[in-house]
Amino acid sequence: MNMPAVALPLASGRVELWLTATAAVGAALRPRYAQLLDAGEQARWQRFRVDGARDQYLIGRALLRTTLSRYAEVAETDWRFETNAYGCPFVASPAACRDLRFNLSHTDGLVACAVTRQGEVGIDVENTKRTVDPLELAPMVFAAAEIADLAAIPPEGRHARFFSYWTLKESYIKARGMGLSLPLDGFWFELDGDRPRIRFAATCPDRSERWYFEQRQPTASHKLALAVSMHQEAAPAIRQRWVVPLATS
Ligand SMILES: CC(C)(COP(=O)(O)OP(=O)(O)OC[C@H]1O[C@@H](n2cnc3c(N)ncnc32)[C@H](O)[C@@H]1OP(=O)(O)O)[C@@H](O)C(=O)NCCC(=O)NCCS
Repeated sequence: MNMPAVALPLASGRVELWLTATAAVGAALRPRYAQLLDAGEQARWQRFRVDGARDQYLIGRALLRTTLSRYAEVAETDWRFETNAYGCPFVASPAACRDLRFNLSHTDGLVACAVTRQGEVGIDVENTKRTVDPLELAPMVFAAAEIADLAAIPPEGRHARFFSYWTLKESYIKARGMGLSLPLDGFWFELDGDRPRIRFAATCPDRSERWYFEQRQPTASHKLALAVSMHQEAAPAIRQRWVVPLATS
């Protein structure tokens, strides 16, 4: 298996984003990706009934394994993962690499992996070309302040604002690793400053100061949000790269 001769450094306080456009993955690479999967991943991959989701899963695992192997001298096939009670995966082995923290997200056309050391990280990507009715969906997934904001802005801005809130909220619940056990109306975002700021209700106790959020638009069809827990005052240093796992060029 491929292994970098020298592992990339990843200082604490850095977050590296690795993005793969699924259309850039040639057909010949998919069998090689399948060879990277362990038995549990193989079984899960086989269980997908929807082709798009199945392919996103395969590319996601290939991106995850090849990305982690950039930061440690560990073969792509040697990573073992476990999940917490809410399904959040983490590095179980090699034990010496457990401080590598990651989060993965996939959507139609795009797979993304965020990697850092020690802190909590969450990433969400969404394809914004899909049709949604922001005002109909908002009461099901947003907090009161977000619903009121969506209703107050001009209708032509609602689609973009909806996906801003959606991806940010997902990035936070993913960074916490607790999925939908966190109440979606127990925290909300304010988007009027330089950076998105999170606020919490008593139903979701946490501190806004310990979180850094960033939004990106990696393609014309995709929105990305990143949540990083901060251990110091300084904002994390974030670097983004496009990659096709195992491609030679
Ligand atoms: C499962 C969940 C963590 C993410 O779901 P999602 O947005 O459909 O999927 P994404 O592609 O962004 O993320 C999936 C990846 O997150 C990781 N993941 C799974 N459970 C996780 C958890 N509890 N915490 C963090 N990451 C998790 C996995 O790596 C998974 O990919 P894999 O199965 O291929 O390994 C969860 O947030 C969820 O169920 N969301 C439902 C959607 C919703 O109602 N959102 C409201 C938005 S406001």
